[in-house]
Amino acid sequence: MCGIVGYIGSKNAYPILIKGLQRLEYRGYDSSGVALYQHDKINVFKKKGKVSELENFCTEEETYTNVGIAHTRWATHGEPNDINAHPHQSMNGTFTIIHNGIIENYEKLKNDLAAKGFTFYGQTDSEVLANLIEYMYNEGEHVNAELAVRMALSRVVGAYGLVVMCKNEPEQLIAARKSSPLAIGIGDGEYYLASDATPMIEYTKSVVYLNDKDVAIITKNSFTLKTVDNDAAITPEVQQLELSVGELEKNGYDHFMLKEIFEQPKTITDTLRGRIDPATKEVFLGGLTEVMPRILDAQRVVIIACGTSWHAALIGEYLIEEYAQIPVEVEYASEYRYRKPIIRENDVVIAISQSGETADTLAAIGLAKEKGALVLGICNVVGSSVARETHAGIYTHAGVEIGVASTKAFTAQVTVLTLIALHLARKHQTINNERYFSIIDDLMCIPGKVESILLKHLAIKTIAEKYSEASNALYLGRGYLFPVALEGALKLKEISYIHAEGYAAGEMKHGPIALIDSNLPVVVVAAKDRYYEKVVSNIQEVKARKGNIIAVITEGDNALRNMVADIMEIPACDEVVTPLLAVIPLQLFAYYVALARGCDVDQPRNLAKSVTVE
Ligand code: F6R
Repeated sequence: MCGIVGYIGSKNAYPILIKGLQRLEYRGYDSSGVALYQHDKINVFKKKGKVSELENFCTEEETYTNVGIAHTRWATHGEPNDINAHPHQSMNGTFTIIHNGIIENYEKLKNDLAAKGFTFYGQTDSEVLANLIEYMYNEGEHVNAELAVRMALSRVVGAYGLVVMCKNEPEQLIAARKSSPLAIGIGDGEYYLASDATPMIEYTKSVVYLNDKDVAIITKNSFTLKTVDNDAAITPEVQQLELSVGELEKNGYDHFMLKEIFEQPKTITDTLRGRIDPATKEVFLGGLTEVMPRILDAQRVVIIACGTSWHAALIGEYLIEEYAQIPVEVEYASEYRYRKPIIRENDVVIAISQSGETADTLAAIGLAKEKGALVLGICNVVGSSVARETHAGIYTHAGVEIGVASTKAFTAQVTVLTLIALHLARKHQTINNERYFSIIDDLMCIPGKVESILLKHLAIKTIAEKYSEASNALYLGRGYLFPVALEGALKLKEISYIHAEGYAAGEMKHGPIALIDSNLPVVVVAAKDRYYEKVVSNIQEVKARKGNIIAVITEGDNALRNMVADIMEIPACDEVVTPLLAVIPLQLFAYYVALARGCDVDQPRNLAKSVTVE
């Protein structure tokens, strides 16, 4: 979603801002813009489309400055066009702002401001905020820019990651955050601002992540932190970034998504690292140690997530119920936060999020905390809001995920959930030694087996090209492979725009079977597990109706090989860890279909990497 970059210091800010915007392109956006302080004026350049279009637009302009802000917009209020793009300026040009998030009471504020004579050029809530700040600035007698920002924000309902420039106090940036991330990078006589750390990584490792309602007042030599409601300065907590520039490059791959698919042998190894004792094979989850007594007392586990993370949650449900024998419910965060769920103090709520910034997941965490539940996070981005808002948690250590379609984060989440289920099962003594050690052994073999699937990517590419003209697809799976079918369908639809539905294979007869004809590709996840025979029956039912079956099968399964149109093989392994293998060919299949259709794989239309608004 929207991205923020800012710079104040002695360097030329413009190339830093443009490169920062390019680093944020992965988040998804539809327009971009910059505001540059030059010769006592704040000049704004903005353009619908890619950052490259903004760059072209600015080619003839003077762009040198030491103070500037820049933004990528993902439209919420008002269509994507040059006018609604950020930065936005207040009516008299006193304030220029970039804003992530949504001002929920913007209509009321806009009407109030209009009644006072303010006029608006666009449809955005952000322009209203710029004018509200200007109104506050002009209202009181001794109101400087900082106070005007804090006064305006105290009237605002909603979310903001905000950076403000004031033409009368031009050598200063004012930044604020509520429910929308903002980080400040500390350089030598310079500061960087961004909605995530990626734009600043090549310049500094020292960052301060703003907390909700923090307001930062930044000049090139000073950084003061306050809150919206309080004038007293507070001490910022400086953290060191572990990210490296190399992680932000494609490293020879055509797309980030492909790179991330191929990284999975390494990322799953990283997720497992230090979490299984090599001698005893016991699971060690350092992040949960302190809260483990409460977890072991839990009567129920509720897992909240969105999208791909929700699919991982479903696998977690199956694992925890089967092995730890604790009841588990999986909820879409967007439903949970509004549907008045029953939350008890002895519930354990697990929030799963790659980005750690998903607005619905954060709201659901807030609700569960309010009701007294212990809330744990499984998240990828270190220092993200989910990591900070939960009582304890586990990082997935999958590294930066830039492709909008989540791949390596999913396998990392499933790996963590497997470890949690095994650990709880061991503690509750609901698993026998033989079963426990056999699953652990198979889990440890997963990276090597993923590697062997990736070696066959060209065979999957050939199959994908064959089906790339399809308009619809059905994905089927049972048991642990049902969520994999859902995930496979999601991957295909989000990057290739082919309508795809994932279904529990046993549900097929209750509706989707009506769709089957010779034009419908049906992807069946049919690895050898306890449901195998039943899935084979489902395959027969599809065949009888002339559906084209592409099956994910276990290596050596000649019976299925001869029964279906196309196969994608995975090595044999324990059914409990099969999702970690079965999803890989489906990720590659979706990637190659999208490629064959000429789609923008890393930045699919309308999608955002980090869904920071509802
Ligand atoms: C799908 C995808 C999304 C995310 C969802 C949740 O490929 O990436 O469905 O999984 O937006 O995002 P996080 O995990 O960051 O909370």
